[in-house]
Amino acid sequence: MACEPSAGLPFDPASAPPSVPAGGAEPGNPTGVQGVSLPGPVSDGASQSAPAAGQGAVIHSPVRPDFFDDVGAEGTLRAAGSKRGILVGAAVGMQALMTDPHYRKLLAEQFSYVTPENRMKWGLVQPNPTTWSLGQADEIVAQAEAAGQRVKGHALVWHRELPWWVDEDTEPEVLRAALEAHVRKMVSHYRGRIHAWDVVNDAVDWTGAMRPSLLLDKLGPGYVADAFHWAHSEDPDALLIYNDYAMCWLNEKADGVLSMLTDLVNSGVPIHGVGFQMHVDVRNLPRPMKLQQNWQRFAALGLRINVSELDIPMAEEKEATIEQDLQLQKQAFRNVFRVCVETPACDSVTTWGVTDRYTWVTGFEGHDGPLLFTKDYEPKPAFYGAMQALVDEDTSEWYAWP
Ligand code: G3I
Repeated sequence: MACEPSAGLPFDPASAPPSVPAGGAEPGNPTGVQGVSLPGPVSDGASQSAPAAGQGAVIHSPVRPDFFDDVGAEGTLRAAGSKRGILVGAAVGMQALMTDPHYRKLLAEQFSYVTPENRMKWGLVQPNPTTWSLGQADEIVAQAEAAGQRVKGHALVWHRELPWWVDEDTEPEVLRAALEAHVRKMVSHYRGRIHAWDVVNDAVDWTGAMRPSLLLDKLGPGYVADAFHWAHSEDPDALLIYNDYAMCWLNEKADGVLSMLTDLVNSGVPIHGVGFQMHVDVRNLPRPMKLQQNWQRFAALGLRINVSELDIPMAEEKEATIEQDLQLQKQAFRNVFRVCVETPACDSVTTWGVTDRYTWVTGFEGHDGPLLFTKDYEPKPAFYGAMQALVDEDTSEWYAWP
């Protein structure tokens, strides 16, 4: 079943101006939809803020009235994913969640899974050794529950975003006790409410060896297994995930992670899955067959596969037009979603953000938007690519992929 709209994509410049909902445009509102004033400027380290109130800001409705017709009966990523047994997730930025009603609406409508982008990181939740600051993380979890979404906790143990009070002068036993307290506190605080935790993040380097870090220096390689044991003892029902980047290719890093996870599994460490972050770009993406081949090595250990932080910016290619890049991006998202559909162990695809309005990806000139929805909350060709992968029954095209 095709999910491409027949009359041009809403973000396809060839069909500009964007299609107008029934009723037509009104003077001063060329989109023909209701303008909405938003609360003040947003700053969460994101590249763009929501329009400020009092500036005459008029923005598009997040989802056009005819949008659901375009994408067929399944309608939304979360519904289409559900039919495949796949959670479709998004990383959630706190500021956008609290200040941008369009963002909230799109997140709730389209996604079934939520990962706090930053607000569960150790440095933010424990601003000093005796103080916990979980209010914002609590808010994200509560809003997700209200929207019927599952939550992925991110990330308990990471060499980055350590609290300021942990440094090279910290005694190993003090660091170990603090890390254990942090893991236990987070997992017990959210016991029964977190579907899966990224327990350890980025512990392996490009060569496949354990990444040199304060954690490795002070605690030795055993900190990885310890963290999984601590988490499991606080919430035996939560899925526990090892999460890392740049290992979606069949490369040394993937081999190193596979070797580490094999040891963990064989030692009886409670680990249930592996997250492939996939911060890739349209010109640097593994071929579908290679990606699946790679994932199957991990699945053979009995691990679930998460695509945990997918974003696919269009990178810098001066010769390419925006139309070409958008189509390339559509194909790239379609491929990743399709490999997940075709791989029984793959249970979720999470994009690292909701709309191009708020993304950590900056610095590319021009064709940079890495996500499924535009800065104006419109579905991009990439959205239809993802939907196509989730909805289409005919896999012949999949087998024809390079
Ligand atoms: O908290 C301050 C805020 O007070 C201040 O107003 C703002 C000004 O820029 O900065 C805020 O902190 C920033 C934070 O994002 C919130 O926006 C940090 O400086 C910035 O370093 C932080 O970046 C995050 C980065 O992880 C480091 O934690 C990105 O948003 C987030 O997308 C990124 O996510 C990581 C995953 O956790 C792990 N995998 C890679 C992925 C991408 O780098």
